[in-house]
Amino acid sequence: MNNALPETAITHDSDFIIFGGSGDLSVRKIFPALFWRFLHGQITENFRLISCMRTVITTQEFASNFRPFCEQAFESGIADEQSWENFLKLIQILELDIVNNIGGDELYNTLKSDLSEERPCIFYLAVAPKLFGASCVLLQKNNLVLPQSRVVVEKPFGHDKDSALALNQEILNVFDEGQIYRIDHYLGKETVQNLMALRFANVIFETQWNNHHIDHVQITAAETVGVGQRASYYDSYGALRDMVQNHLLQLLCLVAMEPPSYFNADQVRTEKLRVLQALRPSAEDEIQIGQYENYTQELEQESNTETYVAMKVNIDNWRWAGVPFYIRTGKKLGLRASEIVITFKNRPHDIFAKNGEQEAEEYPNRLVIRVQPQEGLRLHLTSKKPGPGGMRLFPSELNLSFDEAFAERLPDAYERLLMDLARGNQTLFMRSDEVLAAWDYIDPIISMVRKRNPEIYSPNSMGPEDTILKREGRHWFNPALDEDI
Ligand code: BG6
Repeated sequence: MNNALPETAITHDSDFIIFGGSGDLSVRKIFPALFWRFLHGQITENFRLISCMRTVITTQEFASNFRPFCEQAFESGIADEQSWENFLKLIQILELDIVNNIGGDELYNTLKSDLSEERPCIFYLAVAPKLFGASCVLLQKNNLVLPQSRVVVEKPFGHDKDSALALNQEILNVFDEGQIYRIDHYLGKETVQNLMALRFANVIFETQWNNHHIDHVQITAAETVGVGQRASYYDSYGALRDMVQNHLLQLLCLVAMEPPSYFNADQVRTEKLRVLQALRPSAEDEIQIGQYENYTQELEQESNTETYVAMKVNIDNWRWAGVPFYIRTGKKLGLRASEIVITFKNRPHDIFAKNGEQEAEEYPNRLVIRVQPQEGLRLHLTSKKPGPGGMRLFPSELNLSFDEAFAERLPDAYERLLMDLARGNQTLFMRSDEVLAAWDYIDPIISMVRKRNPEIYSPNSMGPEDTILKREGRHWFNPALDEDI
């Protein structure tokens, strides 16, 4: 649909090979994202999209599985039946049984006519982590580990540091670090990338971005959904492993990192790593865990797994000493919102207070970065109420809504990440040392809190009653009400 792609958006013709092609991730996220990029002209008719599965189905059957997740494209008039049919022509379905080592030769035969160093071969392992090693070996045995090969794995990358090290080793036995793309889809979200633009393409915030001016930072990833179909996976992970170890710590790194000299993969990831290495081990009373009512009924067994975590994170470095980062995430909460809130310190002296009168009310300056939904930035300021009555102050805000500012829809995180795979850009993917450093921080926390019973909270609430911020004279900024509660 779009012939006017910016030059930087043009991608090499590539082969995407999805292991676990009939699985949930492939059907809900990967193929719909590929379809959108096809509609936007970034994927051309020279790409090949090979969906590998144990039991082969026809392209039409496969297409009918992922079409419901593409409906928005039809509803908005961007897609039509012709473009859908053209997209389906790029798809091939192949039989592949990783455990029994069946199908590797056919995969090689399918790819071989077009193998060239200029044409990236992207192997997306949308399978359980226990199959990562066997998948890599299968590729190696079938001569598909080539300079142009890239391998993609999803979080959770391991269950703890030891299992992450073992997984790493299995993949590194076959591929180089420069060929490994570890996805944390939060990094592909538009507003998350905008956070880097906000910090490093503007000067006004940088002078304020430290412990002289920032009082504290809050990061919330609240979800309304429960664990549903994923109960058995989720129960062995819990919120700390499923959300905090990756998504929330990555957001924290982007807020806290030093400016890299260049926006390239190694420099950005090295700066994030430094933040992870500066995290102070958490104390018992800096972590609250909760579980939503009826979780164990859904799971059909007893469990201490946390579906909610709130914690205080301290960063021991010059910039952030003394500035708490409070992070929280939970399932079945009262609203869906991912948000970063930077609260600035109060003014040092209040010129509006009159002798003998009550001090003018403080409305701290806040920068609210709304990751989703209704992506945007809001800067809370204090203004004068118009009209007579003296200097009466009230809270006001500057509001940049990306929804409204950009007429086009914001692409899904996977769309951006898939195109970065074709471009060979690892900036928004996690490097192995980052993953390991995140486990270094999380492992002791898990051992500590798993001895406790989580506090039970009602669905639709905002989790257990806060004790962490309250003790420090603060409270959670509530994204739904847009005000302090
Ligand atoms: C996934 C977690 O990584 O992220 C899920 O495994 C969670 O439990 C999901 O629901 C949240 O992603 P998003 O993009 O909906 O915020």
